[in-house]
Amino acid sequence: MSLDAVAVRAQFPLLQRRINGERIVYLDSANTTQKPQRVIDAMSRFASTSYAPINRSAYQLAAEATDAFEQSRDKVARFINAPHSHEVIFTKNATESLNLVVSSWARSTMRAGDAVVLSHMEHHANIVPWQMLAAERGIELRWIPLTPDGQLDLSELPALLDGAKALSITAMSNVLGTITPVTQLCAAAHSAGAVAIVDACQYVPHNPTDVQAWDADFAAFSSHKMCGPSGVGVLWGRERLLDAMPPFLGGGNMIADVRLDGFTCAALPAKFEAGTPAITEVVGLGETVDFLSELGMHQVRGHEMAMAEQVVTVLTERFGDDITLHGPTNIEARGATFSFSFRGIHPHDLSQVLDQRNVCVRAGHHCAKPLMRLMGVNATARASFYIYNDTDDIHALADALDSASDIFAF
Ligand SMILES: Cc1ncc(COP(=O)(O)O)c(C=O)c1O
Repeated sequence: MSLDAVAVRAQFPLLQRRINGERIVYLDSANTTQKPQRVIDAMSRFASTSYAPINRSAYQLAAEATDAFEQSRDKVARFINAPHSHEVIFTKNATESLNLVVSSWARSTMRAGDAVVLSHMEHHANIVPWQMLAAERGIELRWIPLTPDGQLDLSELPALLDGAKALSITAMSNVLGTITPVTQLCAAAHSAGAVAIVDACQYVPHNPTDVQAWDADFAAFSSHKMCGPSGVGVLWGRERLLDAMPPFLGGGNMIADVRLDGFTCAALPAKFEAGTPAITEVVGLGETVDFLSELGMHQVRGHEMAMAEQVVTVLTERFGDDITLHGPTNIEARGATFSFSFRGIHPHDLSQVLDQRNVCVRAGHHCAKPLMRLMGVNATARASFYIYNDTDDIHALADALDSASDIFAF
């Protein structure tokens, strides 16, 4: 059964808002997503009736809050088919999840001269932490190049992985929409003796995710990109690796014991969850997972493939060579996130003009400056589609682009 985007959109209160009497065409979900009423309600209900400290207090209210918090962990684990709930670590966002892996796993494992393999289309969150470790330790960063249509060029992969300790790779590009062959990449990493880290930030919200089928070692993503609240991220990691890693942050909750001369760590997942977490938001994430699971992630992916196909058809039929859609032309190899260039208009100007028609797109470097440099641009405009977008939104984007042409006198 296909997804009914109109019925889905009706569940999102913000998308019912009108600005200057017109509806909002929200095409910035690769940046952050809107929340359905049931997620807002779940957080409000929890805050009004059940909010209390988790883990530390013996009274009933605290036990209820702890249960609600831990239920979210179970739901997230099932959502990505993690073998164990205690392998799911709640962080602040995907950025913190990736920093956790680099600061804890890589810093305790990699020595000067050891190599990590990244790709040219990584988000800064999967580049800068490695560069920080390189500056500290002298590790080597190796780069998988891209094909002209924005896919990974894997022709030199065995050589790049030769002797490498880690492969850290996006599952879906936030700029090009490219979906990478994660299972193949994890297998290649393992046969070279490297650990496989997946930046799944753009993938998990849009595709059925199975970390066991991937055979990954770590996966990082953010709640706010999957209709959940901001302030919560997830790191899933293999128990064996997490157990062997030193803690990331020190403080309350992550210890088994503290004495004047030292401390011992708590068991997973608490070992990596120092301090008071975003309790209400984690409960909200649990509701989000229910919401997406009820929609069905195969339906979500199917809807987005249909959207991607229509975006290509509508925009190229209407604007021909005046529009460049970056990234793969093969719909199977991409999501519905499109960076584009239009008639030489600067992306920031374009996004401002589109905003006059309530069409929200992102303009900028998308936290992927190395990729921008390779593409030979400083910035692009990006329209990213999700479960609440439909054909009307594609036409609204095309109409708004037409009005931009009028303003810039094309
Ligand atoms: C591919 C990718 N990785 C990591 C991140 C970082 O996510 P967050 O800002 O939620 O930490 C983003 C955010 O845009 C992203 O698109």
